[in-house]
Amino acid sequence: MCGIVAAVAQINVTPILLEGLKRLEYRGYDSCGVALHIDGKLQRSRSTSRVADLEAQVEKAHLSGFTGIAHTRWATHGAPATHNAHPHFSRDRIALVHNGIIENHDELRAELQAAGYHFESQTDTEVIAHLVNHMYNGDLFATVQQAVRRLTGAYAIAVFSVDEPHRVVAARQGSPLIVGVGQGQNFVASDAMALAGTTDQIIYLEEGDVVDLQLQRVWIVDAAGKAVEREVKTVHAYSSAVELGPYQHYMQKEIFEQPRAIADTLEGITGIMPELFGDGAFNVFKQIDSVLILACGTSYYAGLTAKYWIESIAKIPVNVEIASEYRYRDSVPNPNSLVVTISQSGETADTLAALKHARGQGMQHTLTICNVATSAMVRECALAYITRAGVEVGVASTKAFTTQLAALFLLTLALAQSKGRLSEEQEAAHLKAMRHLPAALQSVLALEPHIVAWAEAFARKENALFLGRGIHYPIALEGALKLKEITYIHAEAYAAGELKHGPLALVTEEMPVVTVAPNDALIEKLKSNMQEVRARGGQLYVFADADSHIKSSEGVHVIRLPENYGLLSPILHVVPLQLLSYHTALARGTDVDKPRNLAKSVTVE
Ligand code: F6R
Repeated sequence: MCGIVAAVAQINVTPILLEGLKRLEYRGYDSCGVALHIDGKLQRSRSTSRVADLEAQVEKAHLSGFTGIAHTRWATHGAPATHNAHPHFSRDRIALVHNGIIENHDELRAELQAAGYHFESQTDTEVIAHLVNHMYNGDLFATVQQAVRRLTGAYAIAVFSVDEPHRVVAARQGSPLIVGVGQGQNFVASDAMALAGTTDQIIYLEEGDVVDLQLQRVWIVDAAGKAVEREVKTVHAYSSAVELGPYQHYMQKEIFEQPRAIADTLEGITGIMPELFGDGAFNVFKQIDSVLILACGTSYYAGLTAKYWIESIAKIPVNVEIASEYRYRDSVPNPNSLVVTISQSGETADTLAALKHARGQGMQHTLTICNVATSAMVRECALAYITRAGVEVGVASTKAFTTQLAALFLLTLALAQSKGRLSEEQEAAHLKAMRHLPAALQSVLALEPHIVAWAEAFARKENALFLGRGIHYPIALEGALKLKEITYIHAEAYAAGELKHGPLALVTEEMPVVTVAPNDALIEKLKSNMQEVRARGGQLYVFADADSHIKSSEGVHVIRLPENYGLLSPILHVVPLQLLSYHTALARGTDVDKPRNLAKSVTVE
């Protein structure tokens, strides 16, 4: 999703801005640009290519200045094209970058056109640039405070004026923005990672904040225009975490980091205690009579998996809802429900809105499973469990998913305990199994060479089906999502029992059917579904367990996971599916870490 970096300094800020954009590349973008205050003029360079190309362009044009703003754009209004790329200018006086969506842009555009402003782009952003210019009274800070009152929708903006050389003004509402505090230099960015190596002194702006950034001054006012102090936090630079090391891609690195990520997520857990989720969790867990899980994408599939665990172990009914649907649906609120949001980034607009919607309906027991401790999601929820996956750069989520599952299993046990449904023996057995996870993951990763061989066959396909049953049905869904995201192969997942109710019509000799086949209570049922596929000539690619009796034969390819992992099996069975997608993408030559049209952090609805 779009990224912002802006700087005011006594040195040339171009390298800081470009480095910041590189660090934001992981969010996904289709164009980028930078604008600087140079010798009393605004100058910019924009590109529909990679930040590295923008850098070459900037060098060639010798662009350097003490004040500047930069942006990576993920197109919403207007195609990915240079004239739509940010920064946008208004009459060579105002330069502005923007993340988010302005809902009343049509109305404002008409008003500004009537006032004589000419529009060069199809973006909603250019509207804000002209609006700021139109209202400009020589004091950019005061002007922006006035201008944002006219905006409906979500925004994080950074803006500067040719008339005020050492000043950048920024504001946020509904899109994340942070301030980086330096010595005689100050910055804003859409996340702290953009400033890694530049400053670790970070202020997280709150909704409605407007900030005045000068060389020696960071001045913040809230939505009501009242001066506010926001805490400066030391955020450890992520620079080493974002190095690729020996890996070819971040996705590959992140798949292989899973044993460490799970170990970190479960570090120090010697017993099940509701308080692992925050103060007062025991009372909340005792009180609630149901769970409502809200999430998007891969995080939603983590939620679907958790439903099986929570209902079977804690015996609490669970609803799992796609956040973008729930937020607009007429549902029946239950104030005794525990609302659980799941999010890697903690900034997903739909999940945040769904949470607010639930709270607005009187559901006050909120908990999040999130990978970013400083995110809006964590701030908005009463209880939280922070997964320790570390920075996830690859757009396709891998280690975030398995650490979410580990945290959700922990939540299941804590809920069961609070309801008096977890004996000490059961607790000890579950803890032992969880402690074994990193080693178990390591042995699953060792299957990589076998999976590479399958990937060659997959790379030539344009369609694939994924099957699973019970708790492995969400794993099949996640496997299909991974494949389509990074290889662009059309993939669908079905609960295997559904096959004969429609999708079987798709099965021919050309159709690879990936089957998640752990040796659980449903294995015999699954074998019948596999027969249905074979009888139509479909090619089965089966991930079985060490102790299962599924054998390779004509049209049936089998890879066995080293153990049967029982209840924790989904955490292990997703890993070969991640590897299959990764190696198929490599064989097809797609951009693994930055798949087309996708963004890492989806901060617009
Ligand atoms: C898929 C993927 C997305 C995210 C979704 C939610 O690989 O990464 O489907 O899971 O956009 O994002 P978070 O978890 O940040 O709320």
